[in-house]
Amino acid sequence: MKKIGVLVGSLRKQSYSKKLAEYLIGLFPEGYETELIDIGNLPHYNQEYDEGGAPPESYVKYREKMHAMDAFLIVTPEYNRSVPAALINALDVGSRPYGDSVWDGKKAAVVSNSPGSLGGFGANHHLRQSFVFLNVLVMAQPEAYISGSADLFDDNGEIQNEGTGKFLQSIIDAFLDFIEE
Ligand SMILES: Cc1cc2nc3c(=O)[nH]c(=O)nc-3n(C[C@H](O)[C@H](O)[C@H](O)COP(=O)(O)O)c2cc1C
Repeated sequence: MKKIGVLVGSLRKQSYSKKLAEYLIGLFPEGYETELIDIGNLPHYNQEYDEGGAPPESYVKYREKMHAMDAFLIVTPEYNRSVPAALINALDVGSRPYGDSVWDGKKAAVVSNSPGSLGGFGANHHLRQSFVFLNVLVMAQPEAYISGSADLFDDNGEIQNEGTGKFLQSIIDAFLDFIEE
């Protein structure tokens, strides 16, 4: 059974990105294992941790978990037109020690979102830039820049707009085709 690690680029409890990620997780069919991966407990990356040979316990657990994943779904807001620090930190921590990256050769999909109208385009593409270096194959199409994230769901977590619901399903369908190629 393929394992999909889901990373959310926001740490706040009421995060729209997290709600969106949970909704997307619900769209996976049987036969896939999805897991929300906690990135909020990772200290800022410091190379000395790895050079000393005793990285923080949270790094060890995170890297172990990430290595076991077959593919990743990244759901993130945009901070100052780029990738939120917590998420870029998770990329960095996963990329070291050198030669033992959790990312190498994996596949991913990036879904950015914003309460505004640009849908987190800057974060989405800055992430893609890092993933080229990390040798992560990112699904090219469909691109997902989800605007109006504050109004996507009602209080019961139901999607408010049928068209958006269909689009989100198409993202997951395309992602599954992509990772099975
Ligand atoms: C430090 C900071 C920078 C932000 N920069 C942007 C931005 O560049 N573009 C944007 O669309 N929204 C920006 N926002 C607004 C976020 O999209 C908004 O806070 C959103 O709710 C964050 O995602 P979340 O709901 O998943 O936490 C920024 C918010 C913060 C806190």
